[in-house]
Amino acid sequence: MGALEELAGPLVQQFTQLHVAAQVGALAAAFIALSVFVHVASQFLFKNPNEPPLVFSWFPVNRAKYGDIFTFILLGKKTTVYVGCQGNDFILNGKAKDVCAEDIYTVLTTPVFGKDVVYDCPNSKLMEQKKFMKIALTTQAFQSYVPIIADEVSSYFKKSADFKGKSGIVNMPPKMAQITIFTASHSLQGKEIRHKFDETLADLYHDLDMGFNPVNFMLHWAPLPWNNRRDHAQRTIAKIYMDTIKERRAAGKSDAQDMMWHLMGSTYKNGTPVPDHEIAHMMIALLMAGQHSSSSTSSWIMLWLAARPDIMEDLYREQMENLGADLPPLQYEDLAKLPLNQAIIKETLRLHAPIHSIMRAVKQPMPVPGTNHVLLSAGGVTATDPTYFPDPDTWEPHRWDKDSPIAPRMVAKNEDEEEKIDYGYGLVSKGAASPYLPFGAGRHRCIGEQFANVQLQTITAMVVREFKFRNVDGSNKVIGTDYASLFSRPLEPANIHWEKRDA
Ligand code: HEM
Repeated sequence: MGALEELAGPLVQQFTQLHVAAQVGALAAAFIALSVFVHVASQFLFKNPNEPPLVFSWFPVNRAKYGDIFTFILLGKKTTVYVGCQGNDFILNGKAKDVCAEDIYTVLTTPVFGKDVVYDCPNSKLMEQKKFMKIALTTQAFQSYVPIIADEVSSYFKKSADFKGKSGIVNMPPKMAQITIFTASHSLQGKEIRHKFDETLADLYHDLDMGFNPVNFMLHWAPLPWNNRRDHAQRTIAKIYMDTIKERRAAGKSDAQDMMWHLMGSTYKNGTPVPDHEIAHMMIALLMAGQHSSSSTSSWIMLWLAARPDIMEDLYREQMENLGADLPPLQYEDLAKLPLNQAIIKETLRLHAPIHSIMRAVKQPMPVPGTNHVLLSAGGVTATDPTYFPDPDTWEPHRWDKDSPIAPRMVAKNEDEEEKIDYGYGLVSKGAASPYLPFGAGRHRCIGEQFANVQLQTITAMVVREFKFRNVDGSNKVIGTDYASLFSRPLEPANIHWEKRDA
């Protein structure tokens, strides 16, 4: 046993005897106290005149006061924030030898996803894994996904006890979390896996998710109840995927377009077929990566529609006018005919990008003096800068209309206008000069962007067909943001009033 574990042993033992709620409370309090102590103390202890201003603060915030580059202490580590378009480019397009994502994230992600994928392998292997995933997301795949997602949404509302009757009030985010996982698992992983979500998988994924608690940046190793449940869930889920892969192999080829089939036929550049355990771990990574970001975004969309019933009516009209008054079953091709429906996603991600901070470990001194610690990029800063987005704090999807008086400035109108680069998983826009980067940029850029757009546009279109929303108090405000977890999301309860259109 290491010295740290010897010291911590009796404490951990006492701790595990507490009731779970008490444990969470104790841990949260200890964590906050420790962070604030370390944060404050280090500001007095470490000062270097050659480095970016080391900002004193009780909690790490401060761009307005200190400009685009400043340093603060986050959990005992010097963390340099570099915002603005140049900062985004500097961090997100940094060279692999200079900046490193896996050093930061692996403690959290490896126990959740499993070995040999994403941040538990060399970056060149991750690039190949991303290429496999990206190639699988073809137009043909999306054409098969839209009806699957649309059906999942309709049947969810038919079955859910919270949407019985003609109208009611509901706390929306937990509902959107369920819709997101049902639609993603069915389309990306096939119907066998989707069916298992009605049985065991939902609870197991919940346990797995507990591993993403930010407290685990420090306590990922500790034999705490939620870490034990995380490890058990990881092993059990991986086995479910591996058994499914074996059953599929035994049953023979199918023309299904899901990601699992695609990975089963993929081979690394060195000639090795992707092993079953890696396919299983990539399945977990894919679902987890998409889950928090898409479910947070769809929750914000629903809350904004409740705050702006006029926009919800514009969306309904758009579908009637462009798809036909009888609203035929939604197809992939229909999505391109609904520009406002698309703008809803863009505008919501502008104000509520779920990955609010992107971190990299600095591997060697970089041209910005003194950044040999951790770098933090916050793309949301430029997305709410009035230089680029007039009236930046207003959620106004019509700003993305052609000729809008508050149209975004200096944002590329389409992919072709942007500088492209290939990091090993196909050409991606570099995003160097873009103030709008909800899907990141560079070698770690999202490969799920198109899937997320298809999923979110389909969910929004189906909800608009079914419901009229409004705020319970009739106001046009939405609730504040919960930044306490790794992915930002609405504070809860976030209640809205719903009414069925056919009522
Ligand atoms: C990476 C955002 C949905 C899979 C990223 C990154 C961002 C992002 C900002 C870059 C992280 C970094 O640089 O450290 C989003 C948003 C989504 C979304 C806003 C939805 C609204 C999805 C979905 C999937 C997915 C649905 C899977 C189908 C991934 C993967 C990476 C990634 C595999 C690569 C991680 C890496 O290379 O380090 N996403 N994402 N994302 N995302 Fe997404």
